[in-house]
Order: sequence, then structure tokens, then C-alpha cells
Amino acid sequence: MPSQAWTAISNQPIPELKTIFESDPGRLSKLTLTQGPLRFDWSKTHLTDGLIDAFVGLAEEVDFAGRRDALFNGEKINNTEGRAAEHPAERGEGNAESVAQAKALHGRMRGLIDVIEADALGPVRHILHVGIGGSALGPDVIVDALSDEAGRYDVAIVSNVDGVALEKAMARFDPHATILAVASKTFTTTETMLNAASAIAWMQEAGVDDPYGRVIALTASPEKAMEWGVDETRILPFNESVGGRYSLWSSIGFPAALALGWGAFESLLEGAAAMDRHFRLAAPRENAPLIAAFVDQFYARILKCQTRAVFAYDERLKLLPSYLQQLEMESNGKSVKADGSPVDGPTSAITWGGVGTDAQHAVFQLLHQGTHVVPVEFIASKEPGHSLDPAHHRTLLVNCFAQGAALMRGKENASDPARAYPGNRPSTTILLDDVTPEALGALIAFYEHRTFANAMLMEINPFDQFGVELGKEIAKSIEKDGPTGFDPSTMALIDLALS
Ligand code: F6P
Repeated sequence: MPSQAWTAISNQPIPELKTIFESDPGRLSKLTLTQGPLRFDWSKTHLTDGLIDAFVGLAEEVDFAGRRDALFNGEKINNTEGRAAEHPAERGEGNAESVAQAKALHGRMRGLIDVIEADALGPVRHILHVGIGGSALGPDVIVDALSDEAGRYDVAIVSNVDGVALEKAMARFDPHATILAVASKTFTTTETMLNAASAIAWMQEAGVDDPYGRVIALTASPEKAMEWGVDETRILPFNESVGGRYSLWSSIGFPAALALGWGAFESLLEGAAAMDRHFRLAAPRENAPLIAAFVDQFYARILKCQTRAVFAYDERLKLLPSYLQQLEMESNGKSVKADGSPVDGPTSAITWGGVGTDAQHAVFQLLHQGTHVVPVEFIASKEPGHSLDPAHHRTLLVNCFAQGAALMRGKENASDPARAYPGNRPSTTILLDDVTPEALGALIAFYEHRTFANAMLMEINPFDQFGVELGKEIAKSIEKDGPTGFDPSTMALIDLALS
């Protein structure tokens, strides 16, 4: 960390939030930014002109602009795996060859959707999507946020290997009217392949004629899907250089494209593409993902906040915090830099969160009066997602905005310390015009680029995830060789529960 830029950042005075607007009347306009359907407000954070200048210095020091160009040009920036990271190409932004390839694969996806819509695979009312991590969380957020109860398809996205999840989905679905989407970049993931096999068995037991004929494979390993029994015509491949947690835009988004309609899926891609262009072209001081990364870096590295919390004040976005957990923690939870040297400060904050107003009655006590300082992010929509009394949405938004003000302002109470609030607690607000496909595409792309910007400022590679491998290897060895060679605790657990 002791680079010139980090020294400049560390030397900046840290203002008190309670009075921060008094010292700079232009603060609100300087620290708010509208980009398409999203409005960002960082004015209730500790960011100052001086801090922004110092962070811009850091961005220059680490050649942020060059690395961002490398991302969009399709260079192999995932250096530990020798791959590019081409999720923007799925949205039509970036390397021309990859964009053309992604377009062709989207065309194939659309073609198969037309086939399903025309009932050529038999009647379809239910979409059973099995996948895990990036092969589930993205489509789950989108379908949950945007699907209409009255829509043609009922979608279940099953990830956990715990059969309870699959059994629940199967109990609600008619096997004769279900298509099974098997989503796995590698087509080898234990949980997904086991869930897929059990879903096939369920169809077979129900007397479905050709269960494999009702499988759609969403994968970057088409040959593995064919080996498993899926006909080539029902394999929707995507490019190997699209990372798992960045794959929602590829064929992994199939259940969203089918359930919401192709037009909605295209709007999702367009919303993300607009954010791509903003991230690529906007100057540092007007660049939403980069400014958000400055805020993240300040709290994680200077104020040593170990966590950051995201609260969606909108039921439609209730899955967003889980999605962000994978995106941010799997990308930036690293201990070495891209060049293999140890990192020189904390990396990813631990991302957690929930939905407002529920969370106010559960965890906000700690945010207001606990000893941890947790930077909070509020996400809300101007428009409601329901047609009930407008009082619901008004109360929702009033509460959201009140929480940010309370965290910042605090409340003194000299006579009764238990009732005092320290204040000076930071928050960011992201206000959407509405929860539309376009806004959601822009929001998720914003988070992807913010995660990338954070990684670049810390000089780490956000695109590998070797940390997930060891546990998988050990689980496989227990399956294969039984309980041999483990510590006494692990041996006893295996003995008690598995023998
Ligand atoms: O275990 C982590 C991980 O590799 C994620 O990065 C990925 O999204 C998930 O597993 C699923 O992998 P796959 O799509 O290959 O089944």
C-alpha cells in the first residue's frame, strides 16, 4: 500500500458527515450522478474533493484506463487462467470478433425459444433450471424481479444439492409440461449434475416419453453436454471467456429470456451495454463504477470497515444482495495480487444485506448503534412494483431515505447513553426510475464494473476463483476413498453421519 497515491489518500482529512454539507454547498450536485435510469448519490459518504483527486491519482498510478481498455479489447486479463473476460461482448460491447460470436449464439438461443413457444417440444408451462453459483444467481435475480405471476411459464431455479430444493420444485411442476434447463459452464459441477440426473429420473418415473428430449443445456462445454445425452440442437453454448459469475448475459440467461420474452432480455442487454459505454468513456470524476470503487476502497482500506451492507428497498430486488455476494466476494476475496505478490491491505469487503423495510426491524440496530462502522447501500425505485394503495410505496421510500439521514445525523443524548446515536455513518443511495429490464441490466453491469474497478485499484485479478477448489477436491476424495487420512474431527463426523 505505501505507494505515492495511497499515501496521498491516507493523508486526506476525514470529515464528519454530520456537518459535511455545511462546509460545501455544492456537495450534493458534485456527488450525485444520473446515468440512464439510475441515479447515484454518494453525498452521504466521506468522499471529498481531496479524496477524489487522490483516488484519481491512484487510478493513474495503476494504469486503470489501460486495464479497462484491455478488458474491453478482449485481452487475456485473467492472467492466472490465461483468458479474457468477455461479458461486455455479450451485450455488444468490446472485441468485434467476440461480439459477433455472442450475437450468433444469442441468435441460436432466440431460435430455440421460438421452437419452444411454438410447442415443438410439446407443451411447456414449467421451466426447471438447475445450476449453481453464477449459473443460477443471475437468472434468479432477473426472473424474480421481472416475472409476472400471470406469465405463461412458471420458473424454478434450483441450485442446492440438498434434495429439499429440487423436491419442492418438482412438487409444483407437471413433468409432462416441464423443460429442464441444465446450466453449467463446465458441465461437470457435482451439484448441478446430480440435480439434473434426479430431474430426469422424475420425468422417467412419470412416464415422460423422451426426458432427454426436454433438456436444454446452457454451457461453455457443449461436448460434455452431448456426452451427458443432450442433443446438439438443444445445446446453447457460450464463450469460454465469459466467467461464471458474469454469465447472466449469455445463454445462462435462457430462463429469463424465455419467461420474460426476448424483447425484455434484449432490453436487459441494452441497459448493460449503456453502462459499459459509460464505464469505458466517462472521465474518472464522472464515472459511476469508478467513483463507487473509490468509496469502497476508502472504507475497506482506510477506515478498515470489514463489511458493507446492501439493502434493497424493493421486494423485486430481494435476491440482489445474494447475487452481489458472489460477484464481489468470489471476484475480490483474494490474498495475492495479479503478479502473485501478497496484497498489501484488506481486499473485498464482506458483502451482506437484505430487504427494506424488513431489515430495519432486524439488523439496523447494529448499523445505528453497534461498534462496527458498516457502509450501507440503499437501492430503491421511484415507481412501485404493485397496484395497491400508493401509501405502501410512499412508506417504503420514506423509510429508506430516513435511514440514510439517521445514520449520518445521529442523535445526542447525554443523559441516557443507551438512547444516543453516534451518527457519522456513511451510506450511498441508488435510485432507479423503475425496476425494468433496462434498469436492472444497467444496475448489474454497474456492479460488475465496480467490482472490476476495485480489483484494478488493488492490482488483483478478479476473474479467477481458485479458493473454491480445495473443498471440492476434499469432498470428491471422501466420496471416492472414504474416510481416510483426515483429522479426528472430520473422521468422527464422517463416521457419525455417513457410515
Ligand atoms: O465453485 C465456484 C464456481 O466455479 C462458480 O464460479 C461458478 O459460477 C459455479 O461454480 C458453477 O460452475 P459451473 O457453471 O461450471 O457449473
